[in-house]
Amino acid sequence: MQTHLKYRVISSSITILAIESSCDETSASVCKDGKIASNFIANQSVHEQYGGVVPELASRAHMQNIVPVVQQALSAANCQLSSINAIAFTQAPGLIGSLLVGAQFAKSMALSLHVPLIGVHHMQAHVLANLIMEPSPSFPFLCLTVSGGHTQIVLARSPLDLEVIGETIDDAAGEAFDKTAKLLGLPYPGGPLIDQYAKTGNPKAFSFAEPKIPELNFSFSGLKTSVLYFLQKQQPGFIQDHLPDLCASIQFTIVNILIKKLKLAVQQTGIKQVCIAGGVSANSGLRQALKDAGQKHGWQTYVPSFEYCTDNAAMIAITAYHKYLQKDFVDLDAGPSARAIW
Ligand code: KG4
Ligand code: ZN
Repeated sequence: MQTHLKYRVISSSITILAIESSCDETSASVCKDGKIASNFIANQSVHEQYGGVVPELASRAHMQNIVPVVQQALSAANCQLSSINAIAFTQAPGLIGSLLVGAQFAKSMALSLHVPLIGVHHMQAHVLANLIMEPSPSFPFLCLTVSGGHTQIVLARSPLDLEVIGETIDDAAGEAFDKTAKLLGLPYPGGPLIDQYAKTGNPKAFSFAEPKIPELNFSFSGLKTSVLYFLQKQQPGFIQDHLPDLCASIQFTIVNILIKKLKLAVQQTGIKQVCIAGGVSANSGLRQALKDAGQKHGWQTYVPSFEYCTDNAAMIAITAYHKYLQKDFVDLDAGPSARAIW
């Protein structure tokens, strides 16, 4: 059933309330005329004891968090409900139960406020998180998007014209961090902990095989196996005695794989404006390596601030702002989708 509504006409400035609930962060953000006015994120610690996100628990936690998080975002932005021009939500991809909570909440608000609803692709939003910062990249630019579920090189021609020109054929870079961290006995999510321990370790202490994957695609499943076989050959107590060196060497390998493909993407496209995005873009080794590569090869590099790297609603809001300008709205019967075609 198609649900067409007459929208309420609001003032000439554009205020958007955005909701992100694709995985285990409940987040709300208010964006006014393309500038982020607030961004609140509630993390879900309930998953730590299980070593990964438990979908059922994530949905329940979203149900508990969504009202307070939205209220905080509205009040921090000094935003009245009557001034909202559109409601945006993460439509795909993600955990279906988690997406449903955000989608239903957004629909209810859009329906009651008589404003349009904007469905946002989570991975597109990660890329456009780079537009929040000043200075921001101009188009066209390349973006390496590295998260817990995705690893992509994206060619962005304009805010809504993005093309994936390379991606992983198996694990994502975030999974490579989390799975190798698990082998080291670190809790989930292990990526930030590897980053932490790597700071005092020697990145050349141990070497792990890098995959030989053609063109701009990636593979990370072999790294996990290579670390597993390496650890199986060691004496008891080896991990405890060498944790910083192990973390630094694993991080060095992952970052190397990523930066090599970025270099190839620059060579192939001739585009020298290069961004990173997604949870793994919070990694200090990757941030430094991008900066170094930029200086060495004459690229202009952009890195979102930490709060816009991992999942957040500000990136949904900025994407929704560009969709609003194009009147790119969805009907109220639009469903979320666990997997989404770009
Ligand atoms: O983008 P994100 O918050 O959620 C997804 O959409 O997946 O990314 C989460 C991923 C996790 O794998 C986490 O371990 C990784 O980002 N991550 C990091 C760091 N911070 C988050 N990996 C390495 N170093 C970090 N500092
Ligand atoms: Zn994400």
